[in-house]
Amino acid sequence: MAEPSNPDPRAQHLSVWATAQRTGPVQRRGRYVPESTAHPARMLPAIAAHAIAAYTNPGDLVLDPMCGIGTTLVEAVHAGRDGIGVEYESRWSDIADANLRHARQQGATGRGGVIRGDATAIQSLVPAALAGQVALVVTSPPYGPTVHGHVAVGDELDVRDNRYNDGSDKGNLAYRDLTGLADGFADILRGCATLLRPGGTVVVTARPWRKRGELVDLPSAVIGAGVRAGLVPTERCVALLAAVRDGQLVARPSFFQLRSVRKARAAGTPMHLIAHEDVLIFTKPESSVQLPSTADGAGGRR
Ligand SMILES: C[S@@+](CC[C@H](N)C(=O)[O-])C[C@H]1O[C@@H](n2cnc3c(N)ncnc32)[C@H](O)[C@@H]1O
Repeated sequence: MAEPSNPDPRAQHLSVWATAQRTGPVQRRGRYVPESTAHPARMLPAIAAHAIAAYTNPGDLVLDPMCGIGTTLVEAVHAGRDGIGVEYESRWSDIADANLRHARQQGATGRGGVIRGDATAIQSLVPAALAGQVALVVTSPPYGPTVHGHVAVGDELDVRDNRYNDGSDKGNLAYRDLTGLADGFADILRGCATLLRPGGTVVVTARPWRKRGELVDLPSAVIGAGVRAGLVPTERCVALLAAVRDGQLVARPSFFQLRSVRKARAAGTPMHLIAHEDVLIFTKPESSVQLPSTADGAGGRR
């Protein structure tokens, strides 16, 4: 693994990442264009920054195949890395462009770019010369429309369901069921694997959600997708969405999260408020291993 460039190396080698010591709005203020708040499922900037510091060196190339408003790219260019992103919805890729311009104006030294397109065909979107050049992929799959919501506190509480699109376009993985999402995500990771350099790292954040009371285990589906894409799961970490204050976790739930936990508890389901993202970490093998074929024809490359 590359030596971390973080000034406090002790913090880089813990499996629990203290990524919400400051709230999301405070982390983004002045660093992201105001339009960014419209996106329903942004990554906390500190999560992307932590992954970049822990797994890359200055000058390395970082990729986010589902880059939304460009959090991974902005944090990469501020840290002196280069960043390239793909985003399906032009509504978000335009904001990612604006965020990269903003970062440049603020003196970020890395180079960044965004491509609008379907990342399940990422190899046909990015320049062929990038094959084998990416040091780190940082990404997060869309969590499904049931968990997205937006709360703005103004004169009145404005609560709205903030969907990606009208739901009819299944090219956006947010509108597929878990199997369709996992299959599409495996395709994306397969493409990313060809762009990664040998030994390169993939960091995926994900959390489970509930559908009619049942747990939908997205993190396990992500691990399965990574393995199908030929990546090796190497670590499972936790990125806190709660602050640590005086040895206690201080949660920062959204209105929707609080409401659904309260409803579940009132109905007798002992649910907890989610205070972390699962961080699933994979490595691209240094070289592919040729497995001996077996009598039943199984085996092959992994
Ligand atoms: C969880 S969000 C990522 C947010 C991002 N990390 C940020 O901080 O803005 C997932 C993103 O994947 C995008 N997406 C969904 N399907 C896609 C596809 N097939 N190709 C590329 N992007 C896709 C969605 O539009 C959404 O913006």
